[in-house]
Amino acid sequence: MSEPGDHLSIVLLGASGHLARTKILPALFALYSQGFLPKHFRVVGFARTPLSDAEFRAITAENLTCRYMPEAASCEARMQEFLARCTYVSGQYDATADLKALAPLLKAAPDGTPENRVFYLAVPPHVFLPVTRALGEAGFANPSGEGAWTRVVIEKPFGHDRASSDLLTHEMGTVFKEEQIYRIDHYLGKEVIQNLLVLRFANLIFEPIWNRHYIKSVQITWKENVSIEGRGGYFDGAGIIRDVMQNHLLQILSLVAMEPPSRLNATHIRNAKVNALQCVPPPTLDDVVVGQYAATYRGGVHIPGYRDDPSVLPGSRTATYAAAALRVVNGRWEGVPFLLRAGKGLDGRSSEIRIQFRPAPGGVFPASDGTPNELVIRIQPDEAITFRIWSKVPGLGMDLELRELNLQYKTAFTQLIPEAYEDLLLDILRGEKSLFIREDELASAWDIFTPVLETIDAQSVIPEAYEFGTAGPAGADQLAARHGAAWHRE
Ligand SMILES: NC(=O)c1ccc[n+]([C@@H]2O[C@H](COP(=O)([O-])OP(=O)(O)OC[C@H]3O[C@@H](n4cnc5c(N)ncnc54)[C@H](OP(=O)(O)O)[C@@H]3O)[C@@H](O)[C@H]2O)c1
Repeated sequence: MSEPGDHLSIVLLGASGHLARTKILPALFALYSQGFLPKHFRVVGFARTPLSDAEFRAITAENLTCRYMPEAASCEARMQEFLARCTYVSGQYDATADLKALAPLLKAAPDGTPENRVFYLAVPPHVFLPVTRALGEAGFANPSGEGAWTRVVIEKPFGHDRASSDLLTHEMGTVFKEEQIYRIDHYLGKEVIQNLLVLRFANLIFEPIWNRHYIKSVQITWKENVSIEGRGGYFDGAGIIRDVMQNHLLQILSLVAMEPPSRLNATHIRNAKVNALQCVPPPTLDDVVVGQYAATYRGGVHIPGYRDDPSVLPGSRTATYAAAALRVVNGRWEGVPFLLRAGKGLDGRSSEIRIQFRPAPGGVFPASDGTPNELVIRIQPDEAITFRIWSKVPGLGMDLELRELNLQYKTAFTQLIPEAYEDLLLDILRGEKSLFIREDELASAWDIFTPVLETIDAQSVIPEAYEFGTAGPAGADQLAARHGAAWHRE
């Protein structure tokens, strides 16, 4: 007799889409090739596009890689085994009858052992509720039998403001229990983000200085150097605050600002994150700058602006850039600005956290005055943690220079850095929820940005134009300066 843990079906709704093909299926293969998936494991793709099993396997194969199995022949054999476990059903997401067609594929093992199930909603956000309801009506919300579990996965965006997010949470809650729901913000799966708790709480030296007495400001940056490139559909209705700042950047802020969790488990970690978020007052329009990249000429070549993109509404006022100065009002952080910025069409592609310390007091080394130590945590690309310290330049004089203590992941570790989705999928299978967004965490994050988003919409705020490929609007520099800081420039 086998056990439910030996049987797993992953139902991938939206299996024809970008997320499924480029992230989820490759991550599942990465887990499979390392032996992390149970003996009786299968993937059932579901989407409206008519595809045969062979066609689904062919599009799945396009993105599988041999990262964990460099030996070509054994990797190829493993891929074929994996693909043989992938099948496909075509149907409408809101049609209970179409979803019921999954039932014969998901039937229990021949010996009657129930199976564990994951329903992964890799579909656009407006499909979340219809497909959830249809799954419920098709009888898939409950576990397939005793000792087995059923889990459902959704990805941000979770609503577009506090009210719509609450509605989504409530409506999903009528079909699935909170403990069954895994809300992904894939940034939490990134290696460096997972290292933040270790950095802060496993190293004695940081905690005593991790506060307003030693830290002058915190900068969190997310930037892309590409344009919207025809994918304006969702983004044009959302904008950068909803797309990046309210989720990825606030998640990072909560991990930087939180108090030590009393235990290293999902409940305590997420309690500490929620407490930190609840100490952040909503910013007003004075604390926020929005921008939009504009057309420019480079080397005589015309580079189109955001509004020139055919997937964007003419005259769109959607922000492709935002900077915000947030406060965390508690004993640890009062008076320390948390400066967040996110933008597309900028001068580089990176995500990083910069913890800027206060300058050393006293006049012993005047040359170091004004330029503080800085801890830089680079999330992507080229994961790294560097600490900028003043150092004596070797030689007979006493010249000082800022130099870096440098932990470059690529050279410091021999291990492969997993893709965020590999970690997240494995945690879903293990029922480990630390890296997933709890409902009160989501509500607290929306409470921070909903008021200013409503003001921006109500006042039809015109975003400040910045040339494509530059550092962003000048207003963002003025915002940082008002808080005694300057954005880092590459
Ligand atoms: N792509 C990423 O890297 C990424 C990253 C983070 C979060 N996400 C989130 O993950 C979800 C899926 O993203 P995605 O990039 O895979 O989206 P997508 O490719 O646009 O859509 C996924 C699938 O959903 C179906 N679909 C598309 N538009 C639809 C519509 N109007 N009504 C009903 N079905 C529709 C399509 O399949 P059929 O037409 O065959 O049914 C499509 O293949 C979204 O919520 C997105 O915000 C994606």
